[in-house]
Amino acid sequence: MILISGNGSNMAAIVAASRQRRWQERHGAEVVAVISNRAEAPGLAWARSEGIATEALNHRAFASRQAFDAELVQQIDRFNPALVVLAGFMRILTPYFVAHFTGRLVNIHPSLLPAFTGLHTHQRAIDAGCKVAGCTVHRVSADLDGGEILDQAVVPVLPADTAEALAARVLTQEHLLYPGAIERLVAQRD
Ligand code: GRF
Repeated sequence: MILISGNGSNMAAIVAASRQRRWQERHGAEVVAVISNRAEAPGLAWARSEGIATEALNHRAFASRQAFDAELVQQIDRFNPALVVLAGFMRILTPYFVAHFTGRLVNIHPSLLPAFTGLHTHQRAIDAGCKVAGCTVHRVSADLDGGEILDQAVVPVLPADTAEALAARVLTQEHLLYPGAIERLVAQRD
């Protein structure tokens, strides 16, 4: 189960890896559904065109973060997923949501955690004069971007880098790192 809000390029990389590396056959694992909090997310249309079950759940239709998360939990539980993979899902999750999926919830964050939690990671890395940047796959705990680190990839920060150029360099690594980390997690269940 993958949750997205936007382009879903990490989601697409995970789906591609699951097929190329035959996760179903080797680990009994597949991407069972994709849920977005934005109906217009390009990644949702892509997943649908690939024959993957999709749901859109507009957070603005709910009176509170708690109410949205309660409905999201119900939607996810219908699929009883072994893993809930956050891939550019731009929502802060309630403690209830995190506790409900303890041990099954993972995220990718575009920095070398514990540096640069939160937003605007690439500009902040450039502003701090960092010589390297990267991305982190981590378990999700009640602390924002604070759960156990599962894997990381490093890229150089180049002298003329803009936040956009650095983000693109990091994203190519995300597409390699995240599928590999997820495959290790699903393989652990074998
Ligand atoms: C990625 O950089 C991810 O690390 C961050 O949001 C971006 C999502 O990109 N959390 P995409 O939707 O997977 O293309």
